Amino acid sequence: IMAQQVSSSSPFLKPFFLKPPVRAVSPLQQRRHTLPASEFRNLTPQDAISVFEIEREAFISVSGECPLTLQEVLSFLSQCPELSLGWFEEGQLVAFIIGSGWDKESLLQEAMTQHVPNPPTVHIHVLSVHRHCRQQGKGSILLWRYLQYLSCIPGLRRALLICEDFLVPFYLKAGFKEKGPSVISVSNMHFQEMEYTLGGQAYTRRNSGC
Ligand SMILES: CC(C)(COP(=O)(O)OP(=O)(O)OC[C@H]1O[C@@H](n2cnc3c(N)ncnc32)[C@H](O)[C@@H]1OP(=O)(O)O)[C@@H](O)C(=O)NCCC(=O)NCCS
Repeated sequence: IMAQQVSSSSPFLKPFFLKPPVRAVSPLQQRRHTLPASEFRNLTPQDAISVFEIEREAFISVSGECPLTLQEVLSFLSQCPELSLGWFEEGQLVAFIIGSGWDKESLLQEAMTQHVPNPPTVHIHVLSVHRHCRQQGKGSILLWRYLQYLSCIPGLRRALLICEDFLVPFYLKAGFKEKGPSVISVSNMHFQEMEYTLGGQAYTRRNSGC
């Protein structure tokens, strides 16, 4: 009898029982159920394993060499995550670009492992698309978005990369110019150096949405 009286007369218990049942959902749990269909963002060191999986499949089977080792991926994603871009679909990495800073006219062998802070030039080390997603325009779209994004970073003037002959037409289509044979060689492979001028004319810059 005493217990009944306490519970029915207590002003503190009533609001609790009157509240409709609410399932506590943290913002994190909510997000898990609504992963964006498509998202572009800078990579972080936590993405290194996904990056390396795509890279390994794309390059090891073809040339036996990856442009970047896992250690180098981790190193660049720690030092200059702002020079990377990943394309995620439902949370899965489908394509990525990793760049680092450079400050010489052309790419030299040491550019392969080095990041120069506050650079005038970005060295694009690798662009790779998951094998299930190739030949759908994703590589071109990601590269275009990356170059647009770079042109909004103050101080950056151009992007440089080296590629094998067969990919020269791909980069020409993306707006790069051929600089000629690169001095860099990796296990007897030879490369062409390609250059992209960021921003271009004042007109493009004004209308680029920076
Ligand atoms: C190269 C790569 C990034 C292109 O991405 P993608 O999403 O497949 O490319 P897109 O659909 O935007 O464009 C297709 C174009 O890429 C070029 N291309 C792609 N793979 C090619 C290959 N093996 N040989 C020649 N050209 C190729 C062609 O120009 C092609 O156009 P086409 O179909 O009219 O010939 C992608 O194929 C890839 O990751 N390959 C393995 C890794 C690699 O070689 N990376 C580049 C060096 S860092």
